[in-house]
Amino acid sequence: MTQVRDLPGPRGLPLIGHLHRFSSKQFHLALEKWADRYGPLFQIRLGLSRFVVISDQGAIRSILDQRPRGFRRNSVLADRFHELGLKGLFTAEGDQWRQQRRIVVTALSRTRLATFFPKMAATTARLQRRWEALADRGAAVDICHDMTRFTVDVTMQLAFGIDPNTLETPGPVIQQHLGIIGPGLQRRLLALVPYWRLVPLPADRALDRAVKVLEQEVAAVVRATRQRMAAHPQQEPSNFLEAMLRVADHEGSNLTSADLLAYTSQLLLAGEDTTSYTISWIIYYFTQFPDFFQQAQAEVDALMAPAAALDDFQQTSHLPFIDAFSNEAMRLKSVAPALSLQALVNTELLGCFIPKGTRLIVLLRHMATSEEHFADGDYFAPERWLPNQNGEVTQPHHPQAFVPFGAGPRICPGQNLAILEMRSVLAMLCRNFDLELVNPQRQVKEELAVVMRPDHLQVRLKRRSGVPVHSRQRVVA
Ligand code: HEM
Repeated sequence: MTQVRDLPGPRGLPLIGHLHRFSSKQFHLALEKWADRYGPLFQIRLGLSRFVVISDQGAIRSILDQRPRGFRRNSVLADRFHELGLKGLFTAEGDQWRQQRRIVVTALSRTRLATFFPKMAATTARLQRRWEALADRGAAVDICHDMTRFTVDVTMQLAFGIDPNTLETPGPVIQQHLGIIGPGLQRRLLALVPYWRLVPLPADRALDRAVKVLEQEVAAVVRATRQRMAAHPQQEPSNFLEAMLRVADHEGSNLTSADLLAYTSQLLLAGEDTTSYTISWIIYYFTQFPDFFQQAQAEVDALMAPAAALDDFQQTSHLPFIDAFSNEAMRLKSVAPALSLQALVNTELLGCFIPKGTRLIVLLRHMATSEEHFADGDYFAPERWLPNQNGEVTQPHHPQAFVPFGAGPRICPGQNLAILEMRSVLAMLCRNFDLELVNPQRQVKEELAVVMRPDHLQVRLKRRSGVPVHSRQRVVA
């Protein structure tokens, strides 16, 4: 059987391995290029740590399915989060993971989403008013920036029962700090040594400050929730935070206030960047394919007119073209193009012996773009997701190779929430606005900041004629 050290891979340098071959923001692109060259299983070194990189669909699926017993998240990733006080479901293992997973899955269930939908519709209406004001002034919209305002407002309402209304808050909001955490963590994940413990650079101090602000914001939410629960002790928990507080207050619970704060902060982070950057990439593709954008507009007009936005939960599952377009955007611009894991037992992958403790990187996006799984895999073609008149998908198409939310027991528990947010925002956008890139000459590049985002995305919106004018409340841009 092949040993890890015998696997192919690019030539590295002593001590630093391959760290000099890419910038931390472009790590995923380097891995994908090497996968094309060295095949479905190859090795690289990041400093002294050796990683096995996998792009084979069957092997990836088997790894994801064998969690939590066979594989865990990479312990370095967990350490980097935890030393910032960001513990939570994403980096939890063992019993802590089991306990939190149940609570998070219940808090984000479809039943909860159906009840929550009117609040999401109201948050979407705020976004619409914000965009109408910007359109009327002819001002550029920073899409990533506005989408993080939207996702924080939604996640906090659903998971914590608090409405921060950052969409209509003037001046600095929590997102300004959250935006520093992803890039800061990304840099630390690929640092040769944890230098910040001895000599923190200005960027490390900014990262620490951002996490402190997040902690303070979340602490205030936890305090308010405790007070609310104390006033209504008989009421059943209605969201993630209330359920966690119930566990913490249970006699014999070893859940500390610090744990609670950490879990809550990490859930907010997990739901914020991923969804906002996914919606941003979808909007980016709308700017690139005006014909498809018109098709999406026709779909929402037929479904929603004369309303200006989705106002009924049942309507949200009747947007086949927008769903197909979104799938295609997620296939090509997956915000989680790779996952970093670690073997918990000795195992075998594609004929190679993988000893316990081996660090692995699975390339989710690479398998979703390979010709083997999707015909013309590099091309943007939403129709590949739409069945023909006989209900069949006609092009080579391997749905198992498309896992933007991961797979197996640790699949993203926020998937349904994210899809609902996407449908709600995109339907509102298509129904009410036309759009164009502010600077079409400037290429929009991929940038890894734990999740993969557009390095910039500014659009100009124009109100569509013939659509009812939304209430003109004052909105601060
Ligand atoms: C389009 C938006 C999103 C994408 C693309 C996405 C993607 C992912 C991926 C790839 C994973 C890793 C899954 C695995 O290891 O198999 C994950 C895990 C996770 N996601 Fe999401 N996610 C999104 C939205 C959300 C939202 C809205 C929330 C919550 C509010 C959320 C909470 C989590 C949590 C807590 C985990 C860790 C699950 C575990 O380890 O058991 N995500 N997500």
